[in-house]
Amino acid sequence: MQSDLPDGSIALVTGASAGIGEQTARALSEAGCRVICAARRESRLQALVAELGERAIALSLDVSDDASVDALYSRLPEAWHAIDILVNNAGHDVGGRRRFHEGDADEWLRIIDTNVSGMIRVTRKVIEGMLARDRGHIINLGSIAGIVPYAGGSIYAGSKHAVHGFSQSLRLDYAETGIRVSEIMPGMVRTEFAATRFGSAEKGAAFYDEFGVCLTPQDIARSVVFALEQPPHVEIAQLVVMPSGR
Ligand SMILES: NC(=O)c1ccc[n+]([C@@H]2O[C@H](COP(=O)([O-])OP(=O)(O)OC[C@H]3O[C@@H](n4cnc5c(N)ncnc54)[C@H](OP(=O)(O)O)[C@@H]3O)[C@@H](O)[C@H]2O)c1
Repeated sequence: MQSDLPDGSIALVTGASAGIGEQTARALSEAGCRVICAARRESRLQALVAELGERAIALSLDVSDDASVDALYSRLPEAWHAIDILVNNAGHDVGGRRRFHEGDADEWLRIIDTNVSGMIRVTRKVIEGMLARDRGHIINLGSIAGIVPYAGGSIYAGSKHAVHGFSQSLRLDYAETGIRVSEIMPGMVRTEFAATRFGSAEKGAAFYDEFGVCLTPQDIARSVVFALEQPPHVEIAQLVVMPSGR
């Protein structure tokens, strides 16, 4: 059955140095893709690429930085330019989970600049090639927070509402082309996300422990592969993935 995962397809995964992005890079490599593993922490990317072998490459990329995204292709070997799959995964909630006026304005803006503007920057950079080849699949990491807001989430939930609206409109923009757009919307996933949000590994671990049953990054990586595996007449528009509670 034809899908967006023919052997050797090139996938760019942002935020591949940890959590969902790292596991997605592994899953795509196992599925036969060549994977560009992108993030800011290069040493982590190098370790991942060493594990995945010659079908993976590390790319130092800060999605919140115009110049870094602008130079994306100039830092990739030409044989890696024809990106078929873009997984917009890089994201954080630094300083989050507090009432709006208690948060630091710079941190609020960093969340938007990564989760929203970063996604837009990278998509804008990659989509021209997809259009030229009339082939591509863009997968955006949204969140349940993109449809169900919560107290203390004005900026993070706001950013994921933006991912939600962007993903739906983008899918309609390219409905008549070979480009598909999917949004994966996870509930709670145990990653480094909470440590970044609260500023320490201990606080992050305590948050997940108190929450109870969490998804794993592997669960979400499987969802990404599922969206890509569909035959051409099927487009997974949104996939909400929640922990079952037991
Ligand atoms: N964990 C959850 O419960 C959950 C639930 C729903 C949705 N999500 C979404 O899933 C995505 C991944 O989160 P995660 O849980 O895997 O978190 P994580 O373990 O903290 O990983 C976040 C990744 O994003 C990267 N990143 C952050 N800022 C970046 C930037 N400016 N440029 C490039 N990369 C950047 C980090 O790499 P560097 O620091 O090396 O750059 C890291 O690889 C996010 O979009 C998040 O909003 C998470």
